[in-house]
Amino acid sequence: MLIQIFLFLVVLNLCYSLDFTYYVEDGKSPGAFVGDIAYDTHVLDSLLPQDRKLVRFSQMREETIGTSQLFRVSRNTGKIYTAQALDAESICVRNEECFKIVDVAVRKRETFIKILEIKVIIQDANDHQPEFPEKEVSIQFSENDAKGTKVSIPNAIDGDVGILNSQITYQLEKNKYEPFALSVSKSLDGTSKLSITLEERLDREVKDSYIVQVIAKDGGSPPKQSVLDVHIAVTDVNDTPPVFSQNVYNVSVKNEHEKTFPIVILSATDADLEQNGKVSYRFSSQTSNIAKSLFDLDESTGEIFLGKDFTFGQKLIYKLYVEATDEGNPPLSSTAKVVVYVINQQNNPPVIDVNFVSASTGNTATISEDIAVGSFIAYVKVSDHDFGLNGEVICDLHHNKFQLQSLGTKKFKVIVKDTLDRETRDHHDITIICKDKGTPSLQSESKFSIKIMDVNDVRPQFTERIFKFVVDENQRSKFPVGFINATDPDLGLGGQLTYSLLTDQQDFLPFQITDNGQILTLVSLDHEFQDVYEFQVFVKDNGKPPLNSTVKIIVEVKDENDNTPYFTFPSVNPYSLDVIYYPRHTKNITVLKAFDRDSRENAFLKYEILKGNDKQLFTLNHYSGLLSFSRDLNQQDAGAYDLQFIVKDNGIPILNATTTVFLTLTVSNKTIEILSTALSQPEDKVNMFLLIVIVLVAVTVSVPVTASVSICFIRCKNRKNGSLSAGANPCAKHISEERHLMCPSHLDSSWADVPGDRTTELDTLLIFLSIYLSIYLSIYLSNNCDI
Ligand SMILES: *[C@@H]1O[C@H](CO)[C@@H](O)[C@H](O)[C@H]1NC(C)=O
Ligand SMILES: *[C@@H]1O[C@H](CO)[C@@H](O)[C@H](O)[C@H]1NC(C)=O
Ligand SMILES: *[C@@H]1O[C@H](CO)[C@@H](O)[C@H](O)[C@H]1NC(C)=O
Ligand SMILES: *[C@@H]1O[C@H](CO)[C@@H](O)[C@H](O)[C@H]1NC(C)=O
Ligand SMILES: *[C@@H]1O[C@H](CO)[C@@H](O)[C@H](O)[C@H]1NC(C)=O
Ligand SMILES: *[C@@H]1O[C@H](CO)[C@@H](O)[C@H](O)[C@H]1NC(C)=O
Repeated sequence: MLIQIFLFLVVLNLCYSLDFTYYVEDGKSPGAFVGDIAYDTHVLDSLLPQDRKLVRFSQMREETIGTSQLFRVSRNTGKIYTAQALDAESICVRNEECFKIVDVAVRKRETFIKILEIKVIIQDANDHQPEFPEKEVSIQFSENDAKGTKVSIPNAIDGDVGILNSQITYQLEKNKYEPFALSVSKSLDGTSKLSITLEERLDREVKDSYIVQVIAKDGGSPPKQSVLDVHIAVTDVNDTPPVFSQNVYNVSVKNEHEKTFPIVILSATDADLEQNGKVSYRFSSQTSNIAKSLFDLDESTGEIFLGKDFTFGQKLIYKLYVEATDEGNPPLSSTAKVVVYVINQQNNPPVIDVNFVSASTGNTATISEDIAVGSFIAYVKVSDHDFGLNGEVICDLHHNKFQLQSLGTKKFKVIVKDTLDRETRDHHDITIICKDKGTPSLQSESKFSIKIMDVNDVRPQFTERIFKFVVDENQRSKFPVGFINATDPDLGLGGQLTYSLLTDQQDFLPFQITDNGQILTLVSLDHEFQDVYEFQVFVKDNGKPPLNSTVKIIVEVKDENDNTPYFTFPSVNPYSLDVIYYPRHTKNITVLKAFDRDSRENAFLKYEILKGNDKQLFTLNHYSGLLSFSRDLNQQDAGAYDLQFIVKDNGIPILNATTTVFLTLTVSNKTIEILSTALSQPEDKVNMFLLIVIVLVAVTVSVPVTASVSICFIRCKNRKNGSLSAGANPCAKHISEERHLMCPSHLDSSWADVPGDRTTELDTLLIFLSIYLSIYLSIYLSNNCDI
């Protein structure tokens, strides 16, 4: 037989409504194809073709008790097959639609797509034909029987459970003039009551026996049939069937019911006497085998007991059909229905079944840390078949990252409540607790774990905001400057770091960085060339996509005492210096200057007199380099001195430089203060102007006498000039070109003597004095000289 598939597309509700219905006939061998869920439910239609390959189908546990799994769903293709030979007669109850619900979870990788509810209707194959209890039966009619008299004959039973397959129609085969008809009436259990009805009185003298045939045909396709031969004898017998006190017995059974007490006593009475009135009870063929095995019927008393195999917690309602039959010939019977309601007062803890949507091993599901909030992680089905409150269940999941969401009665999904972070926590233990509402309330727990997979979501972090290193100058290349550290808690490539230096193209950076973050020099460093380097280190991880950070690095090059100090003044060695000492004038002579290209203590300079100061005439300030006389000088001190100076730095080792100064000392016994003070007046030019005016006046006045005094005038001027020249030009004998340094009055006018460029003013003054004198002389001569 081929499996027939009918497609029913049902509007897809969120998670629970029928998604598709398949029909499968019973009797197929295990592994028979039932249908293609993926195709029929269009669940993949919204996915891209490459995504469809990733879709997995998994069957939720079937809610069958006692029986093993009936169906199997292919994980990759979503096709459904039978897992065992299906037998509608054992799975289902006669005359009811026989189906099973199969829940199938559809997921793409870790993402849940939906849960499909597939209904599989098990169709009964018409594999049984209607069967009469016997091939032939004998009945009797009395000669006295009136038209319409009925005699029962047995009905046929069809072993199929399908509605049509078990539906029997009857038909009577007889000779045309035989006065019999078949009457068919439905009894309570759905079976037919058959009887042969007399259409005319019989005359035993005309004919005392007949044979007719009753054909029973079921509604299957093709139909099956069987035949009952009815031998009719014409006699005097009369009969009435037994009658039950109730057509339907309604019985409730509690689980503490004792097995020795009947759950109900049926009673049927028969108006006939003797054998014809003796009633016995048995289950009619309509009663299911399960029910027959669970209940015991006392044939003679009509008492029904719980069978010894009776266990509660299975089905809630059983229907029994009991036939009461007398012992007449033929026997007459009637049927009563007994509905047994099982009130299960047992309280069993609920059973929790967790199905993970994402990849899982054992009790651990794996999800990625970037899973969206609200994602579906597991499907939870709870079963509690206890009666009433004992079977009502409340479930809880207390967790800060996951929560339980109801999908209808006893169905839940576990979803992500809050964002996950593997770096904070890579593993979560979850407990679902379900309690029923019985007294006492019973509870079960289901524990499972969720493992969080890593995603490269953390940027590498440097352990410092700025890294500062100090390195000595003059070290070899590849000298280790220091380590920089960055951390990245991601796993795998996402936590592997690569360092590099960020440089401006134009600046050469004498460093390199190793894979483990060590900075090395590329060349030997020179503090005097560059004492601080600032640059950035870039770090990135190798995740997808890579994440990066940069950090500022400062490398200070520590000074070494690798430069010797040198004199900047005096700038030549040896050096000649002429000094004129004026009493009560300053003792300062000059300031020695030196320079060291190192820094700090390596450039901290100290001056000393090395040689030539045997008379202790000079002192040198060690730090300022100021050279001065140690005391007031006298004429004996004048002379030449060969002074040797040394300048030392304070590094390790101490470096030094020496220089020699030939100092020629002249000691004057004239003070220069008055002169220098007068000459230093800023109003010199004004005075000069006045003097020039006076001179002009004087010249004008003196013109008449000029000729007469000219001889005297020349003589007087010559004399005056010669007397002044000895001390007037103290700087004249400098050997050095650097006159200004030699003549310190330029640096500090109070230190030493009159500068050279003032000699013109002196000349003017001297001319003026000469003229002035000449006027006096002319007046004097006009009076005294006899010209
Ligand atoms: C049988 O009993 C059940 C409950 O015990 C009740 O719901 C049902 O209506 C009753 N049926 C008849 C026919 O009395
Ligand atoms: C940086 O890393 C190096 C090498 O891995 C290690 O020796 C050093 O202790 C680390 N330093 C800090 C401050 O973490
Ligand atoms: C570093 O990361 C930023 C984003 O934070 C990105 O824009 C940049 O391109 C990355 N740099 C490199 C060199 O990868
Ligand atoms: C000598 O030089 C020192 C230092 O420059 C200065 O303080 C001092 O005033 C000078 N003395 C005279 C008399 O100029
Ligand atoms: C100056 O330095 C030289 C070496 O350059 C050394 O031999 C000498 O002793 C030093 N002089 C003094 C006074 O320290
Ligand atoms: C110093 O001055 C005195 C007079 O005060 C004079 O006699 C003497 O000749 C002068 N000496 C010199 C060397 O100019």
